[in-house]
Formats: sequence, C-alpha cells, structure tokens
Amino acid sequence: MPTALITGATAGIGAAFARRLAADGFGLVLVARDEPRLTAYAEELRTRYGVRADPLVADLASEAGVKAVEARLGDGVDLLVNNAGFALPGDFLQVPVSDEVTMLRLHCEAVLRLSYAALPGMRERGRGAVINVASVAAFFSRGTYSATKAWVVNFSGSAATELAGTGVRVMALCPGFVHTEFHQRAGLDMSPVPRFLWLSADRVVKEAMRDLALGKVISVPSLRYKAIVAAGRLVPQNLVTTISRKIGKRR
Ligand SMILES: NC(=O)c1ccc[n+]([C@@H]2O[C@H](COP(=O)([O-])OP(=O)(O)OC[C@H]3O[C@@H](n4cnc5c(N)ncnc54)[C@H](OP(=O)(O)O)[C@@H]3O)[C@@H](O)[C@H]2O)c1
Repeated sequence: MPTALITGATAGIGAAFARRLAADGFGLVLVARDEPRLTAYAEELRTRYGVRADPLVADLASEAGVKAVEARLGDGVDLLVNNAGFALPGDFLQVPVSDEVTMLRLHCEAVLRLSYAALPGMRERGRGAVINVASVAAFFSRGTYSATKAWVVNFSGSAATELAGTGVRVMALCPGFVHTEFHQRAGLDMSPVPRFLWLSADRVVKEAMRDLALGKVISVPSLRYKAIVAAGRLVPQNLVTTISRKIGKRR
C-alpha cells in the first residue's frame, strides 16, 4: 500500500486530499495541531475506506513540530502534500510581525524542510511526488501571503527541474477561492467575491491529481482561474493589487 503524508489534513483542501487518497488506496499520515479532531478524522477514514490512517499531531510553525514530521518522512512516503496554511487578517504593518514570521515558517520553512526530508528517499527509490499547495495569489502582488505562495511556486518549479528524469515529481497547486475554513479562521469578509469564483475542495483535489498524473509542474484548477492567471500577466501589477485589496478585508 503506498503512503501519503498530508499536512493540514483535518479541514478544507487537506481533508479533501485525505478522502481522495484513501479512496485511491493510500495509507495516510495526517498532520495538524488539533489532536481530538485529527484522531476523529483518522478514525473516520479508516472506517470508511479500510486504509491505514495515522494521526501525527504537530504545529508546523514550531521547531518540534517540523522535526517530528521530518522524522516520519525519513521512514519513507510515496506522496507528500504540503498543504497546511493560513491567512492573515490585514495588510503588512497592520498585523504583528510575529504572525508574519509564523506564516513564513509554515508556508516556506516547513515546505522546504519537509520536501528536503522526503525527496532523497523518493529519488533513491526512483518514484514519488510532492504537491505543494500554493495559490493563485502567487501570481499577484497582494501582501505577504501572496509573497509566500510565490516562493512556493518558484521553489516547486526549481525542485521539479532538478529532479527531472529521476521518476520523482514536484508540483505547485494554485487554487483560487475555495470553500474551506480558511477565510473564516482569519476573520475575513468574503461577501464581495461572486459565487462563480468559488471552487469546492474536492474539485481542486481532483484536478490536482489529474495534473500530477499528466506531469504538470503548476496546477491551476478550473478554466476560469487559468484565464485569470493569464490575464493577470497582461495587467499592470499595481492595478491588480489595488483591485484585490478591496476583497478579503477584515470583518
Ligand atoms: N481556501 C482558499 O480559498 C485557498 C485558496 C488558495 C490556496 N489555499 C491554500 O490551501 C491550503 C489549505 O487551506 P484551506 O483553505 O484548506 O484551509 P483550512 O480549511 O483553514 O485548513 C487548514 C488546515 O491546516 C492546519 N494547520 C493550520 N496551521 C497549522 C500549523 N501551524 N501546523 C499544522 N497544521 C496547521 C489546520 O488544522 P489545525 O488548525 O488543527 O492545525 C487545517 O487542517 C493553505 O496552504 C492555503 O494557503 C487556500
């Protein structure tokens, strides 16, 4: 049975990855901070899909949390999904710098270190994959969140190139707005976002798995977001930034 380790596996996109990979017959290692919720979700997946599902409680913005997950990855996994992430409820200079550092740790340092822990074993075995969950925001200058996601896309592209021909794939997944707990946790008012721009987490994961099988390095689920990313490249960045600042204001 192949094994997948998913970070941020209890909610939203991570939980959807867990359902999909369990249905595909993967044994799972599920990472998040909320122990009761993680244990309950692991139990639900075991019962529903008859697969192994091990909870691994870890705060990936902490040294101890990253070390615990690195150690598990050292035992070998077939697929790593670096998914855990969060949004900040305001512009740079409006939020405490410690929260900015936490975001850098979770979105960049943890992604770097967990990839570093997983990839050598995959390369030795000549198979495996890493999916790094970035965002459409990576293609626009919109605060430090988009800066961290731009790093994830850039990092994933360079790792994919380095590993080309080894049988190991690295892909950045760049969703647009997805119905999850993400915006609510950050206290953001998303009411200005039109309904047609919202995707379901299950759809995002379905397209991600298809793109991974196709060998894509960047996956942007849905035609509408592919068009938005393409159009965004033609429009001056300061205009895009001005428009996008009107969306996702603190409630
Ligand atoms: N929703 C969107 O519109 C959207 C769009 C583009 C990209 N994304 C990206 O998609 C990824 C998943 O987001 P989501 O929308 O699914 O969010 P979500 O519903 O809020 O789920 C976040 C998950 O990450 C875990 N998590 C948060 N901080 C963590 C930490 N320090 N250590 C370990 N686990 C942590 C949470 O569990 P615990 O709280 O128990 O730790 C939860 O399982 C993120 O990287 C996000 O940036 C989201």
